[in-house]
Amino acid sequence: MWHPPERIRHPLPAARWPTEGEAAASRLFSPVQAGPVRLESRTWVPAMVPWRATGDGFVTRQVLDWYGRFARGRPGALVVEATGVRDIPSGPLLRIGHDRFLPGLGVLVETVRKESGGHTRLFIQIIDFLSVKRRPEPGKFFERFLKVTDTHREACRVATGWPAPEEGAVRSWLASLPDAALDGVLAPRELEDLRYGYRERVTDMHLPHVRDLPKLLPDIFASAAERAGKAGFDGVELHYAHAYTMASFLSATNTRDDGYGGTRERRVRLPLEVYRAVRARTGSGFAVGCRFLAEESVVGGSTLDDACFFGVEFARAGMDFLSLSRGGKFDDAKRPDVGWAVYPYTGRSGYECMPTVISDARGPFGRNLPAAAAVRRSIRRAGFPTPVVAVGGIGTFEIAEAVLKHGEADIVGAARATLADPDWFLKARQGRGAAVRRCEYTNYCEGLDQKHKVVTCKLWDRVGLDALRASGAPPEAFSADGRRRLTAPG
Ligand SMILES: Cc1cc2nc3c(=O)[nH]c(=O)nc-3n(C[C@H](O)[C@H](O)[C@H](O)COP(=O)(O)O)c2cc1C
Ligand code: SF4
Repeated sequence: MWHPPERIRHPLPAARWPTEGEAAASRLFSPVQAGPVRLESRTWVPAMVPWRATGDGFVTRQVLDWYGRFARGRPGALVVEATGVRDIPSGPLLRIGHDRFLPGLGVLVETVRKESGGHTRLFIQIIDFLSVKRRPEPGKFFERFLKVTDTHREACRVATGWPAPEEGAVRSWLASLPDAALDGVLAPRELEDLRYGYRERVTDMHLPHVRDLPKLLPDIFASAAERAGKAGFDGVELHYAHAYTMASFLSATNTRDDGYGGTRERRVRLPLEVYRAVRARTGSGFAVGCRFLAEESVVGGSTLDDACFFGVEFARAGMDFLSLSRGGKFDDAKRPDVGWAVYPYTGRSGYECMPTVISDARGPFGRNLPAAAAVRRSIRRAGFPTPVVAVGGIGTFEIAEAVLKHGEADIVGAARATLADPDWFLKARQGRGAAVRRCEYTNYCEGLDQKHKVVTCKLWDRVGLDALRASGAPPEAFSADGRRRLTAPG
């Protein structure tokens, strides 16, 4: 992962935990409305992909255990991982693009209801993404994937003196060039396909399925949200953040010329159309909100000012909550190894999304709060009460309470802190804060996600393995190699 060049190591902030009485009187443990849905407290577990679904997107025993474990800590809201809205293969990520996924998702809802004693509201994050291929082996790229053009032929003719090189000869010549020489021969997109792997963009208007996204996506998202309602979820979070399709429409890099790119009014058009389609197909008691970026944190990307504009437009349209993230883009991601896909959390923007303790002077704790607060201020100034969720290095009661006290957000999200200790909200509320297993913000979990391995936390995945085996835990309680437990100890 990328780190700020200053590489200042920040210690975890000291924590003074509340007594049970203080917690009961706190803002953090006071209720809040997200449209029609009431959260018992302002604690929120944001979406985290755990790589536990089947290869074709179904809920597994491990998915149920993962969410059941979070539910036992009784957060106000729990958001199920980014779940694909289309009926297309996408590896072991949950899917909601067909009714056949409904029974499993229904059991997931029941599990969370049961494990939280009915105290936690359950949302599901729904996502669309475009095609991203693995970085090819150069030989294969030149032999098969590259489309040979007149530019390549001409470069080959000039370099070799062959009067009219055949396609095969051009391919062999290109394959023989040293990597640096390719810069002068291949187009930027071809170089990217070779060095990072082929990746579609929303601006690829020559591809009919990309050109037609504005026609297709409102209905696809609406069908997915309708299914979420049928499965019993309390609402959906439309994934408009990070590196995926909807965020790419919002991005300042979106130059589509069909009325859905260019100015920010045009970039927000499809996200609003998707929202309206979702709203029209879901019930009145069902919450619809979105997650979007307070800043893209890449050169030429959307700024905080854009996010303030988008926030107001989403609030005006009637969204029930707005959850803010930052960064997480492909644009500045590291070059992957051959055979791996580019991962959008490896550059500076990835750092801003999941900041670690190796940082700059600002540090990781509450790093995204000024941006979240600015978006919230714009929404309030425009006269909308829409609750805003902030995340980013929030792992103590004091920081969480201060966020609410200073009006930086209305709901406090904590992803890694809750992965480290799914009971931390409950412990804080019960005056048992000293027993919290505190996240160290060093991103072992994120490294597993990057390698598409089942996600666990370094603080607990090797703890009590023998006792767990002795208790008769099934094989699904462990990683495939048997060396890690997959849920936090009690
Ligand atoms: C393992 C892992 C998986 C994640 N998956 C998602 C996801 O599916 N959707 C999403 O919007 N954010 C995802 N995130 C980002 C988190 O929701 C959150 O924004 C980020 O970790 C910063 O919050 P934190 O400092 O409280 O951890 C993921 C984070 C981690 C560590
Ligand atoms: S592995 Fe655990 S301690 Fe490390 S960042 Fe992830 S949740 Fe925090």
